Amino acid sequence: MTEKQITAKIAFCALDELSEEEKSLILMAKIASSKAYAPYSSFQVGAAVLLDNGEILTGNNQENAAYSSGLCAERVALFYANARFPEAKVLTLAIAAQNMIGFSNQPVSPCGSCRQVLLESENRYKSKIRILLYGAEEIAIVDSVRDLLPLSFDVSSMDITD
Ligand code: THU
Repeated sequence: MTEKQITAKIAFCALDELSEEEKSLILMAKIASSKAYAPYSSFQVGAAVLLDNGEILTGNNQENAAYSSGLCAERVALFYANARFPEAKVLTLAIAAQNMIGFSNQPVSPCGSCRQVLLESENRYKSKIRILLYGAEEIAIVDSVRDLLPLSFDVSSMDITD
């Protein structure tokens, strides 16, 4: 048996250590979270996407009485961005989440399905997405979706003769 170590780089910082552009992206994710439709979980998530054409698109979770028909904030924002500006690369994604009490103290990380969709975007545009995960106490930053999704599945995984 052999073992391989897979490492992920995750940075943690305070809000005021971010650039003005990144602070405002987080603010837009927080504002988007307050407009989420989350009557079943009361967990409101917002996402803001910065594109390489300067546009910023936001999204939030949209729940449904048939639970699995709902969609996470990250995918709403990303699909909306891709639908509006299919040629534009996604540079940065900010995520913030709140419940009835307030914003999460710790960074909230995207679910597995959202990570898979984010990976598709990195592959599609051949460009890493910087991800800012907001927490009131600290912010986590990853430079690529790959840091959140080791041993990932993508189109190359289907080339089984390799
Ligand atoms: N949710 C998101 O919007 N993003 C995530 O990455 C995790 C979960 C939403 C889905 C559901 O509406 C609620 O949070 C509770 O899971």
